Parts: sequence; C-alpha cells; structure tokens
Amino acid sequence: MKNVALITGASGGIGRELAKVHAAAGGDLILVARRAHELENLKHELETAHGITAVCVPADLTEFGAVHHVIEQCRQVTDSIDILINNAGFGGHGKFYERDWAKEASMIRLNIMALTELTHLVVPTMIKAGRGQILNLGSTAGFLPGPMMANYYATKAYVNSFSQAIAEELKGTGVTVTVLCPGPVETGFGAEANLDGVEAFKHATNANHVAKIGYDAMRRGKLLAFDSWKFAFLLGWVVPLLPRKLVLFISRKSMEKA
Ligand SMILES: NC(=O)c1ccc[n+]([C@@H]2O[C@H](COP(=O)([O-])OP(=O)(O)OC[C@H]3O[C@@H](n4cnc5c(N)ncnc54)[C@H](OP(=O)(O)O)[C@@H]3O)[C@@H](O)[C@H]2O)c1
Repeated sequence: MKNVALITGASGGIGRELAKVHAAAGGDLILVARRAHELENLKHELETAHGITAVCVPADLTEFGAVHHVIEQCRQVTDSIDILINNAGFGGHGKFYERDWAKEASMIRLNIMALTELTHLVVPTMIKAGRGQILNLGSTAGFLPGPMMANYYATKAYVNSFSQAIAEELKGTGVTVTVLCPGPVETGFGAEANLDGVEAFKHATNANHVAKIGYDAMRRGKLLAFDSWKFAFLLGWVVPLLPRKLVLFISRKSMEKA
C-alpha cells in the first residue's frame, strides 16, 4: 500500500467524503467504523473508480482494546500510516443530568479516548519516518460551552486544544496536526444527536464541501480549518471579547428546539 490514510468513521458523513477525496488523489485507505457493510460498499466504489487499495477494519472504537486491534490490522497490510484522520464521533441533545450515562461515557470514549490513543500509537512511527499528517475532527462547538449538548461541546474543546498543543510539540519532526472545526454539517450526526428542530442546524453545510476544506488544510499543514470565514471570525475575534454569561445565553438559544 502507498500514501495510506487511516480514517475512522469512514462509513458515513464527513469521514466517507474524506475517504473519497483521498482516493481521488490516488491514495490508499484503511477504513474504520462499526458498519462493515457500508465500509465494504465504499471500498468497492473507490477501488473501482480510482484504482486504489482500500482495507476495511470494522471496529467499535468505544470498546476496550479496539484501537490496538485496529493498529494490529493495519500492521498486517502496511508498514506505514502516512495520514491519520480521527473523524469518528457523535453527540447528543438534552440536559446533561437527564441523559443516559452509558451514552455520555461512550461519547467520551469515542470523541476523546479513541482519538488520543490512536494518535499516541501512530505518532512515534510517523516521527521515525520523518513525515506524517494528522487531521482531527474538532468543531466550532469546541470554542464554546454548549448548554443542551454540554458533554459533546466539552469533548470537542478537548479535541481542539489537544490537537493544537501536539501540533506545537511536533514542530520540526515532519509531522503536522490539523484540527478541522466545522459548523453544522448535513450528515447522520443530526439524527444520532436528536437535533431535529434545533436552530443552529437549520442551515447545515454539505459534507463534501467540509471534507475538501479539511483535507486541503491538512495537506498544507495548517493548524486550524473552518468551513466558513464567519465562524473563524466570530469564534476567533468576537466571542473571546464577550461576557461569559452572554456567550452562554447565545449558545443555549442556538441549541434550543423550536
Ligand atoms: N455533522 C456536524 O454538524 C458536525 C459538526 C462539527 C463536527 N462534527 C464532527 O465530525 C465527525 C464526523 O461526524 P459526521 O457529521 O460525519 O457524523 P456521522 O454521519 O454520524 O458519522 C459518524 C461516523 O463515526 C462512526 N462511528 C460512530 N460511533 C462509532 C464507534 N463507536 N466506533 C467506530 N466508529 C463510530 C460512524 O460509523 P458507524 O455507525 O458505522 O460506526 C460514522 O462513520 C464527528 O467527530 C463529529 O463530532 C460534525
């Protein structure tokens, strides 16, 4: 295999679109998610369309030992992972204290633990090779506290922070880290998170557009990528200057159902 990208959450949404973009650029793929059938369909589609090689590794990344299992499967087929895309993640709407704890814990295991463990396992070999690129799926949600999606917003704050910090640590090694911070995107995420009727999700962006922006930013070794200059401006320059209580109020309003 050559120019290998390992993509988690490749069975749908943004991850699926990222796989398509990488395949169109001639790169090989390791596709990870729970739905094996969706991965097999994507493998077939991309191998036929682009003459690349794709390997499917079905796995539930919230399970203990799953990340090690994925890396073991990768070692069977390739010596190097050139690109790691930590995309798998989910959210959930509702008051934190009313939500099912098992679901909240699973969210932390997927959005934080799996991403961090995969990065920890892959980075040393990338450093040894003197090259490698990592794209982590953060979110605009990671720049704010998110009433009605408190745990999800907090997991994305972790991803945004962790990604930028290790990008700095990796300077000079040939390994870059990019964090993609989309606003609302039209994927399976909305249904999974029960976001029907949520104000912020009424104008969701197309997943292919977001994937192209993230992939391009990763290729150029950029630190942060947004899918709209408006989010970059508001979250980078306006929100930090506002009083916290006002930020919380606006954030809550944007997550309320009509
Ligand atoms: N959509 C948005 O508005 C939005 C905005 C900002 C950031 N993001 C982030 O973008 C990333 C991708 O989300 P998306 O919008 O593309 O949502 P999506 O369409 O629901 O896709 C999520 C992907 O993650 C996989 N996944 C879920 N649970 C998993 C598990 N336990 N183990 C392994 N894979 C698992 C799913 O595959 P299986 O079901 O087959 O396992 C699927 O491929 C997430 O990190 C999300 O937080 C999304």
